[in-house]
Amino acid sequence: MGDIKLSVRQEGQGPPLLFVHGFPLDHTMWNQQIVEFGKDYHVIAPDLRGFGASELGSDPVSMAKLADDLAAMLSDLQITRPVVFCGLSMGGYVGWQFWDRHASRLDKLILCDTRAAADSAQIAEGRRDTATRILEEGAADLIETMLPRLFAETTTTGEPTLIHATRGVMESTDVQTIAAALLAMAERPDFEARLPEIGVSTLLLCGEHDQITPVAEMQQVAAAMPNAQFVEIGGAGHMSPMEQPVAVNRAIRQFLETQG
Ligand code: MLT
Repeated sequence: MGDIKLSVRQEGQGPPLLFVHGFPLDHTMWNQQIVEFGKDYHVIAPDLRGFGASELGSDPVSMAKLADDLAAMLSDLQITRPVVFCGLSMGGYVGWQFWDRHASRLDKLILCDTRAAADSAQIAEGRRDTATRILEEGAADLIETMLPRLFAETTTTGEPTLIHATRGVMESTDVQTIAAALLAMAERPDFEARLPEIGVSTLLLCGEHDQITPVAEMQQVAAAMPNAQFVEIGGAGHMSPMEQPVAVNRAIRQFLETQG
C-alpha cells in the first residue's frame, strides 16, 4: 500500500468482513472470529501499518492514514462490495475514520471496546511522554502496565496461555511502531459530535469489566448514534473477542443476520 507492504490473513468466502486489531497487537487477536466467520464470510484480518508482519514505512501515522491503508488494501484485493468493518479499541478509532473517509466501502460497523472521544489533554501528553520514553528504554514497562489492564481478572488468572500469547505479540511489536501509534492516538480527532450523523447500522460490544473503555461510555456512544445497538459481554475485560469468543461471535452473527 503506497510506501509499505501490508500483511493480511484471509479466510473463507462470502460477504466481506474486515477485522481490525487494537494496540499494540496484531490480527491474531481475532483468531476465534477468523475460524468462526471464515465458514461463511470472506474474513479479512490485516496487520495495521507497523504491527504484526506489516511494514511501518516512513509516512506519518494517523488514524486516517490507517483507514486509507485499509481502503487501498481492499482495492488491491479487488473487494468492491461494501464491507462490515469490525474494529477493537484502536481498531475502532480507525473505524470512525473509515466511515468518514470511505463511506461507500462500508456496509455495517461493529465497534468493540472502543470510544468516540479524543484523548484529554492530560492523556495525550502522557502518550507523548511514553512514546519518547519507549524509544529510549524499550516497551517493557508499557507492556507490564498494560497487559493486566487488558483482561478481566478471571481471564488473567484462568487463561495463562492467552495472556502469554498476548504478551508475546506485544513484545514482538517494534518500538518505533508503538511510539508512532501512541502519537497517532494522542492526535486523533474527537468523533462524539459526529455520532448523530453515523446512520450506518452499528453494533457496539463492550466487556463487562473493561477498564480502558468502560461499558457506561460505550452505552452513551450507542445512544448518540441513530442506528446502533449495544451488547455487554459478561466475564470479559477490554479484549472481549479473545476472552469471551462464544458470546462475542453470537452477538456478531445475530447482528449480521438480523440487521438490514
Ligand atoms: C487499544 O486497545 O487499542 C488501546 O488500549 C487503545 C488506547 O490506548 O486508547
